[in-house]
Amino acid sequence: MKVAVITGSTKGIGRAIAEMLAKDGFAVVVSARNQKEVEQTVVEMKGSGATVEGRACDVRSNEQVEALIAHAVSTFGGIDVLVNNAGVGRFGTVAEMSPEVWREVLETNLNGVFYACHAAIPHLRQRGGGYIFNISSLAGKNAFPQGGAYNASKFGLNGFSEVLFQEVRYDNIRVSCIMPGSVSTYFNNHTPIPEDEWKLQPEDIAQVVLDLLHHHPRSLPSAVEIRPAKPRKG
Ligand SMILES: NC(=O)c1ccc[n+]([C@@H]2O[C@H](COP(=O)([O-])OP(=O)(O)OC[C@H]3O[C@@H](n4cnc5c(N)ncnc54)[C@H](OP(=O)(O)O)[C@@H]3O)[C@@H](O)[C@H]2O)c1
Repeated sequence: MKVAVITGSTKGIGRAIAEMLAKDGFAVVVSARNQKEVEQTVVEMKGSGATVEGRACDVRSNEQVEALIAHAVSTFGGIDVLVNNAGVGRFGTVAEMSPEVWREVLETNLNGVFYACHAAIPHLRQRGGGYIFNISSLAGKNAFPQGGAYNASKFGLNGFSEVLFQEVRYDNIRVSCIMPGSVSTYFNNHTPIPEDEWKLQPEDIAQVVLDLLHHHPRSLPSAVEIRPAKPRKG
């Protein structure tokens, strides 16, 4: 059984990816900071027939990320797919944003991805290859006022992804950076509402991940932009 580890997978995009990969036959490891929500996710996914294991992990902690990867390996025997999805959005001007909020965003969206890749790559190599997905954002290409921390984290993640795919391609490790536009999730303290119907749904991003996993290995879509087909006007 192929094994996938997805960070930030109790809700939103990560949860949809975990569910879709489980339906595709992967053993999945779900994680997030909130232990109760991790446990709840495992119960719900097992109820739908998934092979799933959960572990609380704050990706800002290298030790916790190492423990997550080690847990996946000891439970399922290895790792084939890593989805770096955990991310936060905090917005404010450079003049007004506190250094603590700046650090929260950069440490989650960028440092956490490095920790997970650093810990997982030896295990992917051991399997003879694998796939790393980095869930970035269109905010990684388009700057906007009050986006200092978020834009910096996602521009950084895009650059990191380009470096990574060049470093590991000859180990048969594929790397794709996915850049969604607005997705209806709990991001930035939002709650999905019916008025979100113009936005992407988490399943739309999960479908991209699944399609890339089944993509012919001769070519690599190393970066994918996905946006609502008909954004709200005005
Ligand atoms: N929604 C959008 O419009 C949108 C657009 C483009 C890109 N994205 C990106 O998509 C990714 C997922 O976002 P989402 O929209 O699905 O958000 P979400 O609904 O808020 O879900 C975020 C998930 O990440 C977890 N998480 C947050 N901080 C974490 C940390 N330090 N360590 C581990 N897990 C953490 C959360 O659980 P806990 O709080 O329990 O940790 C939750 O499971 C992010 O990287 C985001 O930047 C989102």
